[in-house]
Amino acid sequence: MDQITEIGTILEWYLSAGVDEVIGDVAIDRFETSRRQAPRPPAAPEAPVAAASFRPAAPAVPILPPQGRETGAESAAIASARQIAAACDDIAALEAAIRAFDGCPLKAGAMNTVIADGIFGADLLLVGEAPGADEDRLGRPFVGRAGQLLDRMLAAIGRDRGRDAYIANILFWRPPANRKPDPVETATCKPFVERLIQLARPKVLILLGGTPAATLLGTSEGITRLRGRWHEVEGIPALPTLHPAYLLRQPQAKREAWRDFLAVKRRLDGGNP
Ligand code: URA
Repeated sequence: MDQITEIGTILEWYLSAGVDEVIGDVAIDRFETSRRQAPRPPAAPEAPVAAASFRPAAPAVPILPPQGRETGAESAAIASARQIAAACDDIAALEAAIRAFDGCPLKAGAMNTVIADGIFGADLLLVGEAPGADEDRLGRPFVGRAGQLLDRMLAAIGRDRGRDAYIANILFWRPPANRKPDPVETATCKPFVERLIQLARPKVLILLGGTPAATLLGTSEGITRLRGRWHEVEGIPALPTLHPAYLLRQPQAKREAWRDFLAVKRRLDGGNP
């Protein structure tokens, strides 16, 4: 294998493990750091180490979602999120509480806490899935390619996030390698998102994709069945539609999303949705 091919293979391996971004010029050897910090085990009699006794270190942030029911610690984190969110009386308190919350393990692997962008109190609130790499780096939702498409979709109905739209996500921290949020992560962040909706009190809510739709509507129905039909979240009319990232991959589906955005415009303009 020549050197270039070898480097390519190593990069591919990193990518498959969820390492898809360089955040510093100098590589940090975490094994060396933890060896220096770990308490020394008591001296044991010299013995050959059996190959079978080797266990790879668990990643700090799991790459695969946990399966099945939540653990006791996860249930406690969800209960604490509910309690903390309910005690927030305004958006500043809620934002501070989300930033201080350590109950979602995704926070440990993220560069930033990404809460919302746009105008708090606008009559239109859009909720997406989770920050991606660009959002994590800049600390604002929907600033990458999907965000640019979303801005164009908003402009098509006469809206602008700098003037009359507010944008948030179901998760406040980027999942490794942009994998799908798992049910424990969404359940942990959900009380904060519900409180954000209650405080923002928009006239209309757009749910961008399957994750916000399933989480806030409490259904396992897929987005292709849910989209285009009005629901209610926290007493507010909510329309699920296709996620802009999906539309970038499937441009022929823009027709449906366009129909949904027009229905939102009619409702916002006081007409019949
Ligand atoms: N996709 C989302 O759902 N949210 C973002 O903030 C960016 C991309």
